[in-house]
Amino acid sequence: MDRYVINGGHRLEGEIKVDGSKNSVLPVLAATIISGKESVIHNVPELKDVDLLIGLLRTIGCKCFFENNTLIVKSNSQLETYIPEKPVREMRSSIILMGSMLARHGQVKISYPGGCEIGPRPIDIHLSGLRRMGAKITEAHGYINCECDKLKGVEINLDYPSVGATENIMLAATTAEGVTIIQNAAKEPEIIDLQNFLNGMGAKISGAGSSTVKIEGVNEFHDVEHTVIPDRIVAGTLMAAAAITGGNIVLNNIIIEHLKSVSSKLSESGCIIAEYQNSLHIQCNRKLKAVEVIKTLPYPGFATDMQAQMMAVMTVAKGTSIFIETVFESRYKHVEELMKMGASIKVDGRTAIVRGVKKLTGAEVKAGDLRGGAALVLAGLVAEGTTMVDNVKLHIDRGYDKLENKLARLGADIHRV
Ligand code: EPZ
Repeated sequence: MDRYVINGGHRLEGEIKVDGSKNSVLPVLAATIISGKESVIHNVPELKDVDLLIGLLRTIGCKCFFENNTLIVKSNSQLETYIPEKPVREMRSSIILMGSMLARHGQVKISYPGGCEIGPRPIDIHLSGLRRMGAKITEAHGYINCECDKLKGVEINLDYPSVGATENIMLAATTAEGVTIIQNAAKEPEIIDLQNFLNGMGAKISGAGSSTVKIEGVNEFHDVEHTVIPDRIVAGTLMAAAAITGGNIVLNNIIIEHLKSVSSKLSESGCIIAEYQNSLHIQCNRKLKAVEVIKTLPYPGFATDMQAQMMAVMTVAKGTSIFIETVFESRYKHVEELMKMGASIKVDGRTAIVRGVKKLTGAEVKAGDLRGGAALVLAGLVAEGTTMVDNVKLHIDRGYDKLENKLARLGADIHRV
């Protein structure tokens, strides 16, 4: 399962380029199904989740060529409408194929996505939106069958600004009859990137990034070339790595706007952050102060995907921090592992109270999910002695492109065994 071996105590210093966004490229890959044409996508990170989705696209009949972070997808042949169970169980976000398959073929059979390590993660908001557009959806024997003659544009009000549901409905609505309006839509930057990709291939979408997204159905699409936005969570994780090691790093190829909430929390804890056109300089040369409250919220609030990494930083800050995880039911798997390293954390439901300690000590710990795994790596960077982080292949490789190489280039003593 691959493990990281980390010897703590090295300050991170240097410059690093941030990869393309995992949570943007996945829905963009799903969107390539709709056009029946050629999509050229640049700045695609080499991640397990990307490989899984490319494999799925090939299974249903798309031709995919991936090299030097550029991916070419041709979806002109007649595609399968059945998405096999195994890949869906491996990666929940393949549920995003539902919307694009409906837009292309008017039908799809896909297995119910397994929950994952951070909670049950239902898809009721996805399904109710698609049903409102006229899709006949039945769920039986662990499969979801969706069929529709032609989806109809309607106004849909999301109970919660779900990122996946917003994306699935946007994808399905690209070829619906008439106009679809999504109210209470997710406002994440990845939604804007998906809108730009879809418009690039001929769709007519506006409003992404606000709570109201409008999609006018069209029938004709054309080839598209697109560059994926930088990964704001990878950027935030590297900022947290600089903070926890008292480091001094420059991040290149970022979008400052997307990092506002992380920057403000790290500045509050004592880091000095200078922002430039598309790069950022962060240095943390004094003992960090605890940030009083870190509450995760939909964008532009503090990202749930940064909660674990920020918690690692707070375990060695001066004072006490209160974390409130409002987005997922159980996203504190990393707490138990951080406590093995000497952290002082109390969890009560969605709240975690972190009392800063003088130091962490290296231990054998296990990644329980993607971002929790990243948090354990951060803790290992500052812990006294050696930390072994297990389940790197299972979890960390899903969302970080050779994280150990990036950190080692910045001076960390980390390698994979
Ligand atoms: C996306 O997941 C991201 N994944 C997640 O990143 C991220 O944490 C999440 O958005 C929130 O920002 C991708 O983009 C591939 P949601 P998604 O639908 O779409 C509930 C990472 O580490 N909900 O916004 O699954 C759900 O249970 C991953 O990169 C329903 O109840 O998130 C959760 O509590 C982890 N019914 C909340 O909404 C639904 O139909 C937010 O889920 C859909 C969601």
